[in-house]
Amino acid sequence: MKKPQWKIEWNDGMSVGIPEIDEDHKRFILLINELNLSITERMKATEIKKRLQDVIEDANQHFEQEEKLFRERQYPNAEGHAISHNIVKNTLKRIQDSFVPYGLDAEWVDAALVIKQILINHILTEDMQYADFFATIKAKRQ
Ligand SMILES: [Fe+2]
Ligand SMILES: [Fe+2]
Repeated sequence: MKKPQWKIEWNDGMSVGIPEIDEDHKRFILLINELNLSITERMKATEIKKRLQDVIEDANQHFEQEEKLFRERQYPNAEGHAISHNIVKNTLKRIQDSFVPYGLDAEWVDAALVIKQILINHILTEDMQYADFFATIKAKRQ
């Protein structure tokens, strides 16, 4: 049986045009891949939990970083974007809290898929909106 395609690869289409944010996103994807690997390789529950915690901590730090950037650059949708960060944070926290250490494999797989999806969606939809905005401003200045 063919293994499902778990691994996400960063590509230029995901670039927001701000190198430090792109670096954050790349690290993010790396951590999500590590989490998925621990599930598909059936590592110990403690290891999976640790990796899940890493993804969550990294996401929280990254969101703060973006929000700081919005303040510095006076991004008009800063508030809306912060709300969307909060929704993602709460969802991740809920998933983490609802986990029993020795839950069923299928539950872990579902959780990892959801986590992957919400984070990647966030980059590709919400983050792309500020990418477009900053790119337009930059073009106008030139
Ligand atoms: Fe982001
Ligand atoms: Fe964001």
